[in-house]
Amino acid sequence: MQPIISVSGLSKTYKGGFQALKNVDLEIRKGEIFALLGPNGAGKTTLISIVCGIVNPTTGTVLADGHDVVKDFKAARRKIGLVPQELSTDMFERVWDTVKFSRGLFGKGPNRKLLEKVLKDLALWDKRKNKIMTLSGGMKRRVMIAKALAHEPDILFLDEPTAGVDVELRREMWEMVRGLRERGVTVILTTHYIEEAEEMADRIGVISKGELILVEDKHVLMRKLGKKQLTLHLQAPLSALPAGFEDEPLELSADGHSLVYTFDAHADETGIAALLRRLAAHGVDFKDLQTKETSLEEIFVNLVRGR
Ligand SMILES: Nc1ncnc2c1ncn2[C@@H]1O[C@H](COP(=O)(O)OP(=O)(O)OP(=O)(O)O)[C@@H](O)[C@H]1O
Ligand SMILES: [Mg+2]
Repeated sequence: MQPIISVSGLSKTYKGGFQALKNVDLEIRKGEIFALLGPNGAGKTTLISIVCGIVNPTTGTVLADGHDVVKDFKAARRKIGLVPQELSTDMFERVWDTVKFSRGLFGKGPNRKLLEKVLKDLALWDKRKNKIMTLSGGMKRRVMIAKALAHEPDILFLDEPTAGVDVELRREMWEMVRGLRERGVTVILTTHYIEEAEEMADRIGVISKGELILVEDKHVLMRKLGKKQLTLHLQAPLSALPAGFEDEPLELSADGHSLVYTFDAHADETGIAALLRRLAAHGVDFKDLQTKETSLEEIFVNLVRGR
C-alpha cells in the first residue's frame, strides 16, 4: 500500500548542538492508527513537529501524501491536522469562533454542519459560546482536537491527546479516534499510557534517544516479545524452591505461597506439563493456577532499558 507519510533519513540537531533525532526512516500507512511510544525527551514531539512543518529537519526528507513538507509546505500542511502537546490557543476566544477560524486558515469555505458535528462528537456543543479560558483542562484539550479537525485533514497527529483527561473521557476519545479511522483518516498519536497504544494502535513505533528502535504490528509485537507466566497457588507454603529446580525459570513468591513459572507462550514446548509432573513427584500440591501474558508496558520497559 502507498504510504501516506514517508520519512527518510531524518535527523535533527537543535541549535546548541543537541541531536534529538538520528536517521529516522518511517512509513505510515494510509488509514492506520500508529502509536509512537518513548520516554520523555525521546524525540516524539520533534518528529511530529518536523512532519507538520513547524521544525526544520537538519537532514532527510518527509513526504505527506506525496508533498515535501519543506518544499511544498502549504500543500502538505493542508492534509494534516495537529493537536499539539502544549495547549496553544487564544484563551479569550470562544469555542465556536476559534474552530471556525482554524478551518478558514486552511482556505476551506465555511461549513456549519461539519463544525457542529465535530463539536458534538467531542461533547463540546454546549460550550460552543464559552470563552476557552472558562473551560476545564480536558475540555480545552478537546477544543484543540476540534481545531485540528476543522479543515477535514486526512492525517491527524495527536501529541499526548489524553494527558490530563479523565478515564471516562479518555474512552470516549478513543471511540472518536476509531470513528475517524473508519472514515479513512490516518492517525498518529503519542502517548505515555501503554494501555492506550494497546487498545488503539494498529502498529507501534518505539523511539528512544532520538532513534526509532522498533516499528511493528501491535499483535506481532506482543506475540514476538510476549512471555507468559504461570502462577501456581500452593496448598502449603514452601520455604525454598524444591531441590533440582534452581535452574528452571521458576520463582517462589516472598510469602512462599506461590510459584511463578515464565515461559514462551509460542514455543512448541512450554515445559508446563513436565514441570507439573516434577512438582507433583516432589509432593508439591497446588490449589489453583493462572496464566498471564506480558503486557505491552512490560515489553516496552524491557526494550528501552535494554538499550
Ligand atoms: N527547541 C529546542 N531546542 C533545543 N532542544 C530541544 C528543543 N526542543 C526539544 N529539544 C530537545 O530535544 C529532545 C527531544 O524532545 P521532544 O520534545 O521531541 O521529546 P518527546 O519525546 O516529545 O518527550 P515528551 O514525552 O516529554 O513529550 C529533548 O532532549 C529536548 O530537550
Ligand atoms: Mg513530546
